[in-house]
Parts: sequence; C-alpha cells; structure tokens
Amino acid sequence: MESPEADHQASLRLRGQAEIWRHMFAFVDSLALKCAIELQIPDIIHSHGAGRPITLSQIISCIDNAPSPDISYLERIMRLLVRRNIFSIDHPSDGGEPLYGLTHSSRWLVNGSDEYTNLSSLYLIETHAYLVGSWNFLSPSVKEGSMAFEKAFGKRSVWDLASQDNRFNKLFNDGMACTGRILIREMVAGYKDGFDCLRSLVDVGGGIGGMISEIVKSYPHIKGINFDLPHVIATAPVYDGVSHIAGDMFHQIPNADALLLKWVLHNWDDEACAKILKNCRKAIAKEIGKLIIVDVVLQPDGNELFDDAGFASDLQMMVNTLGGKERTELQWKKLLEEGGVVIAPTNPEYSISELTHQIQLTRPTIAFATSHTSHKLPLNLRTILIDSLEFSTLFTQHSGGESDVVVNQSDIAAILYSSGTTDGFDTVRSLVDVGGGTGGAIAEIVKTYPHIKGINFDLPHFVATAPDYDGVSHVGGNMFESIPNADAVFMKCILHDWGDEDRVKI
Ligand SMILES: C[S@@+](CC[C@H](N)C(=O)[O-])C[C@H]1O[C@@H](n2cnc3c(N)ncnc32)[C@H](O)[C@@H]1O
Repeated sequence: MESPEADHQASLRLRGQAEIWRHMFAFVDSLALKCAIELQIPDIIHSHGAGRPITLSQIISCIDNAPSPDISYLERIMRLLVRRNIFSIDHPSDGGEPLYGLTHSSRWLVNGSDEYTNLSSLYLIETHAYLVGSWNFLSPSVKEGSMAFEKAFGKRSVWDLASQDNRFNKLFNDGMACTGRILIREMVAGYKDGFDCLRSLVDVGGGIGGMISEIVKSYPHIKGINFDLPHVIATAPVYDGVSHIAGDMFHQIPNADALLLKWVLHNWDDEACAKILKNCRKAIAKEIGKLIIVDVVLQPDGNELFDDAGFASDLQMMVNTLGGKERTELQWKKLLEEGGVVIAPTNPEYSISELTHQIQLTRPTIAFATSHTSHKLPLNLRTILIDSLEFSTLFTQHSGGESDVVVNQSDIAAILYSSGTTDGFDTVRSLVDVGGGTGGAIAEIVKTYPHIKGINFDLPHFVATAPDYDGVSHVGGNMFESIPNADAVFMKCILHDWGDEDRVKI
C-alpha cells in the first residue's frame, strides 16, 4: 500500500501529464471547429433544421461541393465537437439516427441569427494557414529577437500580404467586419452620449467599413468616413452615410470631430503608435475632438470570461504583427500620454476608464477556441498494447485467438492479445516491439524484465538510427510483410494509425 502522500503525488503527476496532453492537442479542437465552419455545419443545422437538431446524413447531404463525402470522417469530427459542447447530440429513444443540434457556442457561428453575431469569418482568419504558419518561428524569434512573421514571410506585414492575396484580403476584412455588429449593439446601449455630440467620425483602419456603417445606422446625423489602405478600400461595399477614403494613417488621417481606432493600435509597437496618435491629434477638431479607442486592456490577475483570450491575442500580435501587442491599463496610459493624448479622468471625453469601458465592450468579440482535451494516456508500460478498446473486437474477429481487455487502474483501455497466457511480462521470454521506432520502449521493458529478449522492429530507416540498448536487437522490415517471431508482440500506438483493413493485415 502506498502512503496517502505518495498517492497524492502520483495523482498530481498524472494530472500534470494529462495537462500536457491537453495542450499538445489543443490545436485539434481549434482546427476541428475550423473544419466544421468551413463545411458550414452551424449554418446547415440552423437553416435545414430550422434550429432543430438534424441527423448526420441530413447534414452531409447539404454540404456544398462535396462529390464523395465521407460520413465516418464527419461523425468523428462531430463526436469531438459534441464533447467540447460546440454541438449537441440527441439519441432518439426509438434507436433512430442521432440528432445534432446547435449550442450557445455554435450559435455564434451561424448567419441570420438575431441574438448572435456570426463570428465564423473572424474564426477563419485567426486560424488561417498564414497566421498559424508563422507560429512555427516563435522560438527562433525569441532567440534572435526577430519577428516571427518576417521569418515566415520575409520583410512584409500582414497588410502587405493581404494586398497581394485577394482571398486572404477578403477573409481578413470580413473577419474584422463581423465584430462591428456586436460592438455597436453594446455601444448604442452604453455609449449613447458619446456619439450624440458628433457631426463627423472617421474609422481609422476601419477595414471595409462595417463598424462605421453600423454607427451611422444608429446615429444618422453623423457623417461617417471609413479610412483604410487602398487594397482594403477597393473591396469595401457602399453604405448609406459613409464615404470611403484610401490612405496611410502614418502619413495623414482625414479630419473629423472624432476618430475611432478599433483593433488598430494593438497591431503596432509604441513608436508606431506614437506616430499614429500624432496624426490623430492633427485630424480631430480642437473643441470637441475625441479619440475612441477600442482595444483589449490586459488584466494580469483577471479571471473574467475573456481575460485569457486577451493574453492569447497578445501572443497572436507578437507572432503575426511587426511589434504589436495587447496592453495593460498602465501601458495604455503611458502610450497615450506619450502620444500627446490628454487623459483626464474627470473628463469622460478622454478618460482611461472610458477606454477600458470600450475595451470591455469589445472583449466578447474575441473568439478563440479553448480546449478542454482530457486525454488519458499515461505511458504505462505494464500494459502490453496500448490503443483503444474497439480493437478487442477486431482481434477476436480476425485473428482466431483470444483477446483480453484489461482496464488498468488509470482507466486506460489496454488490450492484451495472447494465444494463451495473460500473465504480463513475467512469463514472456521474447518480446518484439512492432513499430518500435528507435527502441526506447522495448529498452525500458528489458531493463525492468532482464529475462526478456527484446526485439525492436521498425522500418529500415528508423532502425538505422537506433541506439544500442542492452538486451535489445534491432530488426528492420515491413510489418505488412512479416514480423519477427517472439513469445509476445508489443504494439504501442500503432493500430490507431491504420484503417480496419490494414489493421487486420497487421
Ligand atoms: C486589425 S484590423 C482592424 C480593422 C477594423 N478596425 C475592425 O476592427 O474591424 C487593422 C486595420 O488597419 C488597417 N491598416 C494597416 N495599416 C494601415 C495604414 N498604414 N493606414 C491605414 N490603415 C491601415 C488594415 O488594413 C486593417 O484594416
């Protein structure tokens, strides 16, 4: 019997390991949901089922441009997303096909809902291959003090990339525009007085003008100006009460009573922000001039719903902009003061609390997939074959032998296939690790059970680089042709790499 303290420590170790697995697979959650969005599954459920759950066959029949759809792939993707509470599943009592529905999360990914804004395009841009690709350069950028984005794409910014790639440009602008609708609802409710006194407003770096058009819709007395780079303005739709102006905010910003900067300053380092703010000061009316900044305020000890997203977004800025960052309230104050913006807490026109307020309003627009992967897969060598329970059936059906399903004390599904005894390693004289890589696992087994003759079996190029281990011989070959003889075969995470037909051959 282990002591309670030893048990506690073992449990902490296991939890720690589970946490690492969760992080390792966090991208799976994020990209599985991206796939569901690309296939428009939230929209399909919303429109086809009029909001009611529908079957997988109904979903798949509505997917556009799918000449030979694979329902088993989709079923597995949905299984994960149901676990993550992105979709719901109902199992009808009559044994009919399961029904998939929307949840409070996936409703944020549909078109045409009154209560939820569609964040799909924002999700697709934040997980776009360009933006995700530059993350591979994060550690070199830390070591060399260089920009990850430049390492990935050369000396250019994300805006340069958008100007050269029309599809990316459209996706980026749509992604940004969709957040305007959420924000304006909150602004209309909470910032009414702020707009009442304005005659003109420029949205600086306003993208295709979604935000300013929503403001002008609610405050038709305001003359709206959407200001952005030429390649963005070229694709902007026409909106009543909004004129589009192409230009460069580092050069000159159109004059108006007030300027709006939403998610602009966080793209730039302090030096670049100072230049933007200087041009803002020149552009706003002296008497009632106002700068409305909508950005994240990082809360270092914050435990609110979107605080984590702020820190994730900070790293997204670090990786995908040339010096951008999210800022704490202190950093904002410093930046604005140095940029010559008067922050008078008593004057709501410029108070930092107003800034904070605006920022809080924008928080719900930050959509990042959070993952709750709870993958239990301890590296427990007491099991002979670690994979999943479903193989048990496969073995008994196709091998003519017996299969014992052992659930060990960590609730891990482990299958011990044997033609006779199932006593574990004690009775095994020779053991071949099929697909054993460079032999690390079999070497550990042989260290603990030195009576076992260990054989590490893998493709020749793997075995060629394998180190020498006492008691282990390396054999190069192909498991689909033949496997070296031994008392027992060990396969760790092999069968799950293959389809059923190949598993049967193995
Ligand atoms: C993160 S996006 C925010 C867009 C929009 N404000 C929103 O939140 O929906 C930053 C915007 O700044 C624009 N931008 C970048 N450099 C600029 C420049 N030098 N002058 C004007 N706009 C610029 C980009 O084209 C992009 O539309």
